[in-house]
Amino acid sequence: MASPPLHPPHLLLSSSSLLLILSTVFFSFSHLSLASDHPEPQYSFQELLQAARNPDFFDWVISIRRRIHQNPELAFEEFETSALVRTQLDELGIEYLWPVAKTGVVGSVGSGSGPRFAIRADMDALPLQELVDWEYKSKKKGKMHACGHDVHTAMLLGAAKLLQQRKDKLKGTVKLVFQPAEEGHAGAYFMLQEGVLDDVQAIFGMHIEPYLPTGTIACRPGPVLAASARFVALITGVGGHAASPHKAADPVLAASFTILSLQQIVSRESDPLDARVVSVSFIKAGDAHNVIPESVTFGGTFRSLTTEGIVYLTKRIKEIIEMQSAVHRCTASVDFMEKKLIPYPPTVNDQQMYTHVKMVGESLVGKDKFQASILAMGAEDFGFYSQRMPSALIQLGTQNETLAPTHMLHSPFLFVDEQAIPVGAAMYAAVAMSYLERNSAEL
Ligand SMILES: *[C@@H]1O[C@H](CO)[C@@H](O)[C@H](O)[C@H]1NC(C)=O
Ligand SMILES: [Zn+2]
Ligand SMILES: [Zn+2]
Repeated sequence: MASPPLHPPHLLLSSSSLLLILSTVFFSFSHLSLASDHPEPQYSFQELLQAARNPDFFDWVISIRRRIHQNPELAFEEFETSALVRTQLDELGIEYLWPVAKTGVVGSVGSGSGPRFAIRADMDALPLQELVDWEYKSKKKGKMHACGHDVHTAMLLGAAKLLQQRKDKLKGTVKLVFQPAEEGHAGAYFMLQEGVLDDVQAIFGMHIEPYLPTGTIACRPGPVLAASARFVALITGVGGHAASPHKAADPVLAASFTILSLQQIVSRESDPLDARVVSVSFIKAGDAHNVIPESVTFGGTFRSLTTEGIVYLTKRIKEIIEMQSAVHRCTASVDFMEKKLIPYPPTVNDQQMYTHVKMVGESLVGKDKFQASILAMGAEDFGFYSQRMPSALIQLGTQNETLAPTHMLHSPFLFVDEQAIPVGAAMYAAVAMSYLERNSAEL
């Protein structure tokens, strides 16, 4: 999710159901509005944003973010982050389930009945040395919140506070999902496995976006991020003296042909309008000039915006590696590592959820600051939620070049404009409150 945004596309506001949804929200929100004769919901969303920007609130939420930033923990090791989350929920008087998927926490705010809506943050950091010199730099050597999950966690706690302060106005229950292990380890999958979101109707998530200015939100309906999987191939031949190749079966040559052939799955077998990627990112073979090695190992990642695409790529990667190896008198095996590192499904934003989020986002930050996000072939374990229930994942701008130059996610130089945090906290809360409002009204 590290690409510059496009300009908003022409919007597809033709359906009458959209009008119905909007009028329901406008109507049902009017009682929350301080200007009660005003038919628009903006004021109550603005009230959430103002509350999040209140200096006391801001200082509190920023201090949480900085504490998490200074103490980054890797996937499934988020013990102290999880403890911090629970301490804050305790102080807010919010009940929660824990441990879920080892370090995960699921809080509940609201009536306990009516519709149930989830808002999600991930808590894990990356094995990366922070190279930004600032007061709240990571205190852990070789670990950094370089994907903004510290910001996500702080914003969700911010939303928890906003919602708890307004719990009498909630028309249902909001589940606060603090999950472990987004980075490669499918934390979302394990949260779902524990059944803690079985009763939830829909879910909303956010990711910071360093190429979008602070105060801006981007979203789009349909696929937003790719399904992603990995493979490792082992090609075995017969080693020998490099001066007598005829007495060997050369796995280096077999691997070379195989890697080239793999590139033709996308270029020759896939619809050019259906984005797919096959990248071989490492190769290991031999260590002498005059020895043909016994075997070669290589591997990489493959991606598609659809589950069918990933299934097809999996099948063809295996066939091509095995068959090209056979052409060169070698044998091959392919490991898709599914047991250890579960492949991620595509992240697909539900059309109705998108419409809802757009309405809230435009009210909160202004129409001109709600943009269309661009598609990218990155992956997110949010895809596991989106596979299970209507969902939307948005991008939240954190760029401010007055403060720091722009660097992409996973960069050791990533620097987040903390002014984005109240926007994110208010957005989480506003999307959840109005979703419950809308869905209880429709019952
Ligand atoms: C960027 O940060 C500066 C300094 O805090 C601030 O004055 C400015 O308004 C910020 N810009 C945006 C777009 O938020
Ligand atoms: Zn990441
Ligand atoms: Zn991330």
